[in-house]
Amino acid sequence: MTDTLFSRVTSAEPDAILGVTTRFKADPRPNKVNLGVGIYLDNDGRVPVLNVVREAEEAIAAQHLPHPYLPISGLPGLSECVQRLLFGADSEVIQSRRAVTVQSLGGTGALKVGMDFLNHICRKNKAAVSRPTWGNHICLLEMAGFTVNSYRYYDATHDALGFDAMMYDLGNMPTGTVLVLHACCHNPTGYDLTEEQWKAVISLCQSRGLIPLLDIAYQGFGLGLQEDALAIRLFAASGMSFLVASSFSKSFNLYNERIGALTVVTASETEAKTVASQLDYVMRANFSSPPSKGARIVFHTLSNETRFNAWCQEVANMRTRIRQMREALAREMATVDAKRDFSFVTRQKGMFSFTGLTPDQIERLEKEFAIYAVKNGRICICGLNNQNVAYVAQSIAAVL
Ligand code: LMR
Repeated sequence: MTDTLFSRVTSAEPDAILGVTTRFKADPRPNKVNLGVGIYLDNDGRVPVLNVVREAEEAIAAQHLPHPYLPISGLPGLSECVQRLLFGADSEVIQSRRAVTVQSLGGTGALKVGMDFLNHICRKNKAAVSRPTWGNHICLLEMAGFTVNSYRYYDATHDALGFDAMMYDLGNMPTGTVLVLHACCHNPTGYDLTEEQWKAVISLCQSRGLIPLLDIAYQGFGLGLQEDALAIRLFAASGMSFLVASSFSKSFNLYNERIGALTVVTASETEAKTVASQLDYVMRANFSSPPSKGARIVFHTLSNETRFNAWCQEVANMRTRIRQMREALAREMATVDAKRDFSFVTRQKGMFSFTGLTPDQIERLEKEFAIYAVKNGRICICGLNNQNVAYVAQSIAAVL
């Protein structure tokens, strides 16, 4: 066979999460359930359009706006809205103007720009992620040029966060390591740090010179929009420099609009201006400038008090439904007399539950019951509803 340019390229594995959706869609069984990808579904199994989004879309459409390029850093005004949501309206970080925010292609795009900035501009090349973490963290870091290490996070024996082990591992990270942290609703485990634990992590980051990169893709799905920003506000209060990757995919149900933001908190307004110029450079080299639709919807909502309050209520409704489904699953698992106590699902937060199901058990759920989940045992609670939760519980009990 002749050696061509691509003849030595081998096939990549399908994505561990998005590949589940592909298989789910191809499955003709009518009772199928997708607990794979982290997408919010309502009780009828649909991705809802929020009322605030519908209203924003109508208002924006009525303006018949032209389509020039946005500035490299994104829609003017969006960054102020993002910072208020992250730090609180009266935050010192906002008043002192020591943070810079740029619009990004979803939370993934924010991570990518942040990582490129840290690697290519700040010359950092070591990073650490929690074990386990969202798989794409590792891909993103490697593509941005980092060597990726990990720190222990989940304690399988106790179905809990293994905080002592986490601190031990963080204490042994080389100075200058970029530390990827989940600000809330840890993906995939659903276990978050307490305020005291965050404070201990912050002190350790300060004493060991670790560089925090906080991923906040699920703000509002844990305890509340303000409560879920706790870690970010504690880092802000510490005076440290750090980065935050925000996503509006989940909290606005705007998955395909790719709308997120990267915020870099620096030591001073002067430093923030310099960093802003470099972020523009990185953004331009990645995708030139971001798209406007998702940004306009989010800005329209967050920049007006009435619409902001309406959005908070819609996020609260989604959060409540997730909590109810956690309770329903735990109840159904107890009813079917499962071999394992499943009450841990009610202690986890956000969209996901880390079930401890093995890859073989996940495979059986898919093959025998048309229930789809991620191989590592993560299920998306939002895929549950009043119609399928009993079936899911019976099926899980059957494979245990
Ligand atoms: C997930 O973890 O399922 C979501 O963040 C979607 C994705 O891109 O992986």
